[in-house]
Amino acid sequence: MKQTILVTGGTGFIGSHTTVELQNAGYKVVIVDNLSNSKSDVIDGIEKISGVRPAFEHVDCCDLKAMDGVFTKYPDIQGIIHFAASKAVGESVEKPLLYYRNNFTSLLNLLDLMPKHNVKGIIFSSSCTVYGQPDPENLPVTESAPIKKAESPYGNTKQVNEEIITDDINSGAPIKAILLRYFNPIGSHPSAIIGEMPNGVPMNLIPYVTQTAMGIREQLKIFGNDYDTPDGTCIRDYIYVVDLAKAHVKAMQRVLDTDSDKLEVFNIGTGKGVSTLELIETFQKATGVKLNWAYAPRRAGDIEKVWANPDKANKVLGWKAETSLEDTLKSAWKWQQKLRKEGLQ
Ligand code: WQD
Repeated sequence: MKQTILVTGGTGFIGSHTTVELQNAGYKVVIVDNLSNSKSDVIDGIEKISGVRPAFEHVDCCDLKAMDGVFTKYPDIQGIIHFAASKAVGESVEKPLLYYRNNFTSLLNLLDLMPKHNVKGIIFSSSCTVYGQPDPENLPVTESAPIKKAESPYGNTKQVNEEIITDDINSGAPIKAILLRYFNPIGSHPSAIIGEMPNGVPMNLIPYVTQTAMGIREQLKIFGNDYDTPDGTCIRDYIYVVDLAKAHVKAMQRVLDTDSDKLEVFNIGTGKGVSTLELIETFQKATGVKLNWAYAPRRAGDIEKVWANPDKANKVLGWKAETSLEDTLKSAWKWQQKLRKEGLQ
């Protein structure tokens, strides 16, 4: 019997790619999304890729009554993957109350409803931002590295939501949870049918790179080249979004089908640190497209260097990031070309 999984934020970047991989693994998927930062035609794209149309409910996770109705309508839901959240670091500084209300209320509603509807497990979309800037001796960063004071309300919501889940489980809630701390998810599905659709001027590096390559942006700015790194630019752990999606399937299987601990945490990264300059050089080599870029002052709030030690996920989840940075960047460029071909960007 196919297990049914609720994917909140399932028309978003990571949620849509995860839905495809869940379907490929034989799960039935119900997507809940308020479409505040994505479009419902992503559902068509998911169906085109996997051959299966996920159920879709246009609902806001902050609406307790509506969410209760979703679980009543789909009584087979056994697990949840919770992506739905506001996630722009800069915007969270300008609108902290919106971020706290949205990101806390949506999780609290799910935790309230899980026991009532016999939902066994939840996978929470967390972030390496909980580590802040790890101390040199803690790089590459493991799950036991110290949690640092968040540098933004967005990062704080990730930290506090981890604590909310922990306290709920420690209080005896009849559920299990896995917290997945992502590093930098990038790229698009190899079919170029789904991908990252930033609103307006991209904040994140990869969409800015591909839009510069496409001539939509005049010049890419590298924020800072005076960091304490080999080439002076920041270092990150860039992980292919499809590999990240597959990690969620492994985590869901572990929560639902094994007698694993009630609460586990995993870093989901490649284990390889890549500088901004190295990324640009890799993009140019992978695509043959020359990028117009220049150094610019540092961006406030940027972490200097962070990358994962993914050994625990490799060993315990049986998951490993397999895609090369070159292939990942090729997928991002193929997606940008498709958007241009369809007149979408
Ligand atoms: C990456 C690197 C920039 C743009 C954030 C969140 C994280 C996650 C991913 C949600 C940095 C540099 C960027 C540009 C640049 N968000 N850069 N020029 O800040 O590492 O992580 O997004 O899930 O939680 O914190 O990602 O892509 O913004 O930046 O030089 O035009 O690229 O300085 O070093 P970041 P990013």
